[in-house]
Amino acid sequence: MKRIGVLTGGGDAPGLNAVLRAVVRTAERAYGAEVIGILDGFKGLLDGRFRHLCGPDVRELIRMGGTVLGTTNRDNPFACPGEDGPIDRSDECLENARKAGLDALIIIGGDGTLRIAADLGRRGLNVIGVPKTIDNDLASTDYTFGFWTAIDTATEALDRLRDTAESHHRVMLLEVMGRHAGWIALHAGIAGAADVILIPEIPYDPHSVAKTVVRCQERGRASSVLVVAEGAMPRGGEMAVVAVDPTTGVKRLGGAGERLARELEALTRCDVRVTVLGHLQRGGSPVAFDRILATRFGEAAVHVAMEGRFNRMIRLADGRIEDVDLDEAVRETKLIDPRGLGGPLLKTARALGIAFGDE
Ligand code: F6P
Repeated sequence: MKRIGVLTGGGDAPGLNAVLRAVVRTAERAYGAEVIGILDGFKGLLDGRFRHLCGPDVRELIRMGGTVLGTTNRDNPFACPGEDGPIDRSDECLENARKAGLDALIIIGGDGTLRIAADLGRRGLNVIGVPKTIDNDLASTDYTFGFWTAIDTATEALDRLRDTAESHHRVMLLEVMGRHAGWIALHAGIAGAADVILIPEIPYDPHSVAKTVVRCQERGRASSVLVVAEGAMPRGGEMAVVAVDPTTGVKRLGGAGERLARELEALTRCDVRVTVLGHLQRGGSPVAFDRILATRFGEAAVHVAMEGRFNRMIRLADGRIEDVDLDEAVRETKLIDPRGLGGPLLKTARALGIAFGDE
């Protein structure tokens, strides 16, 4: 009997559990194979903490947020904390996978986790990557699961903010996730009829944003609603950073909305309020699109594993589920490019009169 491991890594995203469900069901029903869940991401692989997953364990999982595999985290077996700095413990991952009799390991994660997966693959582990992130910033797939749930959450927040903005004649600013790429801000901004969308790919001029807000008022609109990606920055400025992780060097972002609010208050004398949507975007029941995408990814990952094709990543390309070389798949971040990806959506937004702070 074949035995497939499955691990969830990085920040969570709605749909992780739906992938697990699809992996277990497909493995059992199509191949009579066994599935071993790795608890707590790479930490569990290092410690050899596994849990057998079978049909009844994944019942109802399609609608649940989070992951049933304990915690998901950003631990990196190639750079574990050691007394004299980071140490490489990837050997232990390989050894534990071998001891557990895993024929393949499906690793569900965003860019960081999938880069680790590719490195483990190079070291000889039979890995298959499944792309996940609410940010949708993985270059080789049209969409990652979790993204459309995050957009729905952000759109609902914009609708609610519009109501209260109107009631108080205020400028309402919604800060959403999106570290290097503004996909959530762009989609939610269009769906939620924002007046301004600020994204990391287009540094903004505070004077231009202020002009848009004033123009809204001059046209008789008492309120404005703005959506700002956490990684958005003013021209010539930097991303707003709260802290830097001393081990990984990863920046924790925060404050982009507040920074802009202060600038706008000074420039327009408007009453500005900020809402940071934060991790509300990462939790909750996945929307139908994410459930289906996660399910298709999980099913495909099992087929690829059973065909013995490793170092592959499952992706969505023009509506089709395919697999591509994992190493290549994680090479680039998918950014909004006015002349390329996301360009048509930017054009639509601009045609509707949405401003990007660069006019
Ligand atoms: O999942 C990606 C992401 O949502 C980024 O947009 C954000 O900067 C980051 O995760 C925050 O993650 P955490 O608070 O878990 O470190």
